[in-house]
Amino acid sequence: MKIAIDGPAGAGKSTVAKMVAVKLGYLYIDTGAMYRAIAWLSRAHNVSANDGPALAKLARNCNLTLKPGATTGVFVEGKDISTDIRLPEISELVGPVSAQKELREELVKQQQSMAHAGNAVLDGRDIGTVVLPNAEVKVFLTASPEVRAHRRLKDIQKMGLSDTLEEILAAIIERDHKDSTRAESPLRQAEDAVKVDTDTLTIEEVVETILSLCSKCEKPIKI
Ligand code: DC
Repeated sequence: MKIAIDGPAGAGKSTVAKMVAVKLGYLYIDTGAMYRAIAWLSRAHNVSANDGPALAKLARNCNLTLKPGATTGVFVEGKDISTDIRLPEISELVGPVSAQKELREELVKQQQSMAHAGNAVLDGRDIGTVVLPNAEVKVFLTASPEVRAHRRLKDIQKMGLSDTLEEILAAIIERDHKDSTRAESPLRQAEDAVKVDTDTLTIEEVVETILSLCSKCEKPIKI
């Protein structure tokens, strides 16, 4: 079974996807971490965020691996970059990087081959529409920009950074706009996805909602 969880930044996708994966004993694939890793690499190697072919080449050659854990471990060229890829400068850079067609084609291929290994939960922006259009369970997780900004503020404070709520909210609104209006695989709800608004739900309630969708699912496995 493949479970696709898409939605905007800060809707709680990775927290929920990881919990669903642990409960079901499935592989969890954080596709946003993969785009972040390439954004990090583009800085390290001085590659322009607009050079799609060069970014795709980086993705092909960097031996990108994800290791499951409380925070997904992200390794490139043998280096642990799990913390660095969450810094605000990478969050900013990953927008233009993830809009590059050639890079998306390469990472989608890698994501499909990782998911092929067995039962998996993937979260991102294009999982239900592009990466796994035949996923048995598709969820579009969303929340208002204000609620998402409050959640992001807590994460950012834990990292010891001092961005204000207003700055975070403005960045979220801008990122939503960019993610949903870009030419390549814009963020959109798949026609057969179930929309779950997390504004008034606890994490446990969201997880239960997804588990209940899984238990009702009888579609054959295809990717
Ligand atoms: O979910 P996140 O914030 O870690 O994602 C980082 C960036 O990568 C975000 O700007 C959207 C982009 N992304 C994407 O374009 N496609 C995906 N499948 C996952 C993330």
